[in-house]
Amino acid sequence: MDHLLKMLDLSKEDITEILNLADQLKYENKNGIKHHLLKGKTLGMIFQKSSTRTRVSFETGMYQLGGQALFLSNRDLQIGRGEPVQDTARVLSRYLDGIMIRTFEQQEVDDLAKYGSIPIINGLTDFCHPCQVLADLMTIREFKGRFEGLKMCYIGDGNNMANSLIVGGLKVGMEVSVACPDDYQPDAKALEFAKEYGDKFSMTNIPLEAAKDADVLFTDVWTSMGEEAETEKRKVAFAGYQINDEIMAAAKPDAMVQHCLPAHREEEITEKVFEAHANEIFEEAENRLHAQKAVMVMVMGGKASDEDD
Ligand code: CP
Ligand code: NVA
Repeated sequence: MDHLLKMLDLSKEDITEILNLADQLKYENKNGIKHHLLKGKTLGMIFQKSSTRTRVSFETGMYQLGGQALFLSNRDLQIGRGEPVQDTARVLSRYLDGIMIRTFEQQEVDDLAKYGSIPIINGLTDFCHPCQVLADLMTIREFKGRFEGLKMCYIGDGNNMANSLIVGGLKVGMEVSVACPDDYQPDAKALEFAKEYGDKFSMTNIPLEAAKDADVLFTDVWTSMGEEAETEKRKVAFAGYQINDEIMAAAKPDAMVQHCLPAHREEEITEKVFEAHANEIFEEAENRLHAQKAVMVMVMGGKASDEDD
């Protein structure tokens, strides 16, 4: 694995390897075992959108792995003033050992990988959110012990989360059902991929239909970063696309609920359902740290260091 650009690039084996390493790093972290697998390495973190979890978990993760992370906001970099990504990639490749980028266009992430010579990790684009979905899969496996035979349901906007969940869920062997309004469907590339999975994938505009017998329910904000001008229009379009008691009653009695956060209570999820499943949702948030550490070790070439730091 050279980069993490999108879930579509990963094989089932890659995902399993990341999740196994993430489980191991989580266990070691909880037991006070140091794992300085990226000692002396530097990760650049380019943020063109806001972040709480991604920024803090990457920075902390890099520190726990013995390296350091640089927070590079759009406002500070010349990229924000129009320096081409091709040049930024070639310059940063000479200083850094890896780049995590959160931006709008997937093309910008792909171009960093194309023109640079160091590993690139996608920390969210309009198209996908692979780091989040690796943490989500880690959490599902942690709570349910398996993927095979489980049904994942996503209700809401056909956005970056929907795209990555469809691809990730199907790749690891889950059945995936999605409910989106007709005008807010997932990306054609995710739907094209899902076609290969026949009746293991289903798409509807009726949330209750998608939620039937689900083992894991996902939702996400109605208005993603960059779409704020459409907030009011989206409130109308997404009314009813909410995880609530009625949806929970349609799912399996032991269904878990996941949310990438930040959550908008009483919009895509009720306060009641959110709080009833808070342990699963915050474990999911914690798992960003462990899953991303595994990704960084795998793409940035971490080796066990026998030096005592
Ligand atoms: N879920 C997620 O990516 O959170 P942040 O936007 O806070 O990084
Ligand atoms: N779909 C959301 C996810 C935030 C983590 C967004 O892109 O804003």
